[in-house]
Amino acid sequence: MAGAHRTLIPLLILKLINAGVHGKQLSQYVNEGADVSLLCDNVVNSDCSLIMWLHSRESFPNAIQEVFNGKVKVNSKRAKKRSVGADCSLHIHNVTAEDAGRYTCRILKHQNPFSDTDTYLSVLTISLSTLLTYLKPDRPVTIRCSLHTNEGRGKCRLFHNSEVHLSWIDETGRKLQGDSRYQLTGPRCDITLTVTFQKEDNNRKWMCTLTEKGNMKISIDFTSTFSGMCYCYAPII
Ligand SMILES: *[C@@H]1O[C@H](CO)[C@@H](O)[C@H](O)[C@H]1NC(C)=O
Repeated sequence: MAGAHRTLIPLLILKLINAGVHGKQLSQYVNEGADVSLLCDNVVNSDCSLIMWLHSRESFPNAIQEVFNGKVKVNSKRAKKRSVGADCSLHIHNVTAEDAGRYTCRILKHQNPFSDTDTYLSVLTISLSTLLTYLKPDRPVTIRCSLHTNEGRGKCRLFHNSEVHLSWIDETGRKLQGDSRYQLTGPRCDITLTVTFQKEDNNRKWMCTLTEKGNMKISIDFTSTFSGMCYCYAPII
């Protein structure tokens, strides 16, 4: 333990030199509605009573304490959806876009930023321009796929997201390109597909995939189901 104290002072000096430099930085991607676990590094003897979890985002840079002394803070807005694992990881249940941001696991005993584990959690969502019950052939629909990051919706400027791209993929795994049938708009982390459905599109799956450095990380999909398959335009006999 004495050794740990001896290393603390040079670390603090280094901190002054390298202001803004932090400990370990990770990034994680998750679909809206899924559950996720964020790892806490540097935990000694699994003693979670010495850790705290902080959550921040560019839109609220003053971090919110979600976990203190290893316990979920009851007054935290989303406390019901949070729990702490045996290894001090933070579990988030039923992720929403609001859960995106930077999560810092800090060990209280030596509160130096070099022992922090920062995880940038980005949340993938899919949304439609119309209610599901209004889906019909011959009607144009826009399907928006967005990555919600620490910087906001569809913003992935930062280093950890620099190689991230979203794409629309059809059922055969082919990447959709803009053409007479499909219109693709938006920046690389907020892509919108406009398509006029045809009868054959009933029960068809539209998939949005997230790749990082060319590797597929996660995907989210939507199935176009025409309620009742009303052939409203069929001639009346
Ligand atoms: C997940 O959260 C959303 C939005 O808060 C809610 O509508 C939905 O019912 C939740 N799902 C589960 C399984 O808890």
